[in-house]
Amino acid sequence: MPESIPSLSQFLDELSAIEREAAPEIAAARSADALEAVRVRYVGRKSGRLSPLSGMVARMSATDRPAAGQAFNAAHTRVQEQLAAHAARIQAAATSSAPAVDLTMPGRAVWRGARHPVTIVIDEIADIFRELGFTIALGPEAESEWYNFTALNFPPDHPALDMHDTLYLDGGALLRTHTSPVQIRTLQRYPPPVRVLVPGNVYRRDVFDASHAPMFAQIEGLAVDEGVSFVDLKATLTHFARRFFGSATTRFRPSFFPFTEPSAEMDVECQICRGSGCATCKMVGWVEILGCGMVHPSVLESAGLDAERYTGWAFGMGPGRVAQQRYNIPILRELYDGDVRVLGALGQ
Ligand code: PHE
Repeated sequence: MPESIPSLSQFLDELSAIEREAAPEIAAARSADALEAVRVRYVGRKSGRLSPLSGMVARMSATDRPAAGQAFNAAHTRVQEQLAAHAARIQAAATSSAPAVDLTMPGRAVWRGARHPVTIVIDEIADIFRELGFTIALGPEAESEWYNFTALNFPPDHPALDMHDTLYLDGGALLRTHTSPVQIRTLQRYPPPVRVLVPGNVYRRDVFDASHAPMFAQIEGLAVDEGVSFVDLKATLTHFARRFFGSATTRFRPSFFPFTEPSAEMDVECQICRGSGCATCKMVGWVEILGCGMVHPSVLESAGLDAERYTGWAFGMGPGRVAQQRYNIPILRELYDGDVRVLGALGQ
């Protein structure tokens, strides 16, 4: 059956309809492969949308044929040009050195971390004592009973040795309950004059409350020389408190430790309530920050020193308590819970 001769207007309508469909498909192609598929669909020689139209031109009446042919060629060329232009755009995007990110976008904040408030306080305390001629000494956290208790003049039946207060390890070792064993270790190694500051963690079978934790930091101080007296102790610790807390008032109360005689505790006026009484200072207006005293002669002898010739003083401070006061942290536990929202806000 002979195919009917299409009219010129029908032909032109169909031609422009195909061209209109091609344009958005060309523009939407995101890769060379996708663009090639569009090319085959529209101008592919055998099955492209435009190829039946070129057959139509041949069948048209002699009067319409030139106009139809011209229109066809022009449309075909335009589609080819659009394909070429978009191919160039795809190529340019692929090889462009321009970053594919929007540099004007605000950056994402990066959590940089902060020093722990207790660490900050330890460093500050160390700086103050360093100015006074103290050096830093460290000791093991797993200790023997001899260094932790016996050499420090604890009697064998002292309640601190009880399983309820001390964490014992397999094989007879224990987790040191204070930094005082480093007094012995230091005196065994270095002859007087000795002035050391010993920061470290200590362990006790305590449950967490507002002012207790099973693991906490301590700073030991020890000064041993000829002619050292309680005056040196009191003057040094008072100087420290003035430097560290500024105008804070301090007081010394008599106390007892097996390894010092006489012994005392130093309180600072509670910085949280300024002495008027709050939960942190248990309504007394004062907070105990350290125990201290003159080194007991039998401690010097345990370390092999002549207790007739040498005297010394020592203290054990709780930098957690100090940090609580400095940073206004009513609950001690917050310092040891590791919550970055708390620690990051306090740290520097
Ligand atoms: N070791 C004592 C404690 O943990 C503190 C202290 C140290 C007291 C040095 C006197 C001298 O409580």
